[in-house]
Amino acid sequence: MIICDLKSNKKMCIRKAEPGDASYIVRMSAQIGGETDYFTYGEDDFYFTEEQQKAFINNIGEKDNYLYIVGIVDNKIVATLSYLSSTRRRTMHRGDLGIGVLKEYWGMGIGSSLIDYFFKWASSNAAVKKIDLEVREDNLRAINLYLKYGFKIEGRISRGMLIEGKYYDLYCMGKTIG
Ligand SMILES: CC(C)(COP(=O)(O)OP(=O)(O)OC[C@H]1O[C@@H](n2cnc3c(N)ncnc32)[C@H](O)[C@@H]1OP(=O)(O)O)[C@@H](O)C(=O)NCCC(=O)NCCS
Repeated sequence: MIICDLKSNKKMCIRKAEPGDASYIVRMSAQIGGETDYFTYGEDDFYFTEEQQKAFINNIGEKDNYLYIVGIVDNKIVATLSYLSSTRRRTMHRGDLGIGVLKEYWGMGIGSSLIDYFFKWASSNAAVKKIDLEVREDNLRAINLYLKYGFKIEGRISRGMLIEGKYYDLYCMGKTIG
């Protein structure tokens, strides 16, 4: 667990997600889904129940090459970051990064602080050699965040999302470690 300073004179606690966080995370994820069109799901489309979320957190806790952390501001979970790897030997050195912050808290440095925490964890973890992610090509805030941390655009998925009849392309971004 660490405490970090945010831009707005607030402090954030970052720690690993715990089974007791499940109901908050389900509600927060649905809220972010409704606040942005940049996720792969909308508000009514986040299918994890509290029990499934709890099982997910328990499952992650048992694996070395997975990370699931929460950011807590004002005693409330306002952000999550996940890094999920494959269990197969040929691809377990790489994983997918996902990050979401409640809209009210954007621009305070929360995304950056979560990624700082992630890279400290990743660079001391021999199992993590490559970070992959997908981001909508018009999600400039997220793309700038990833570029700031050295991610490079490695490819493009055409028609990566379909929202209300309109297709959006996605960038595949990646960063190597070690
Ligand atoms: C993308 C997201 C995670 C960023 O989190 P955040 O807490 O707002 O990020 P930060 O405050 O740490 O800002 C990070 C960087 O974003 C960029 N940024 C911030 N505001 C921006 C803006 N208005 N336009 C473009 N880039 C911007 C800057 O590079 C900033 O770094 P800097 O402050 O050092 O200049 C958050 O906005 C979010 O959850 N969005 C919705 C879900 C999402 O898009 N997730 C990513 C899916 S791939």
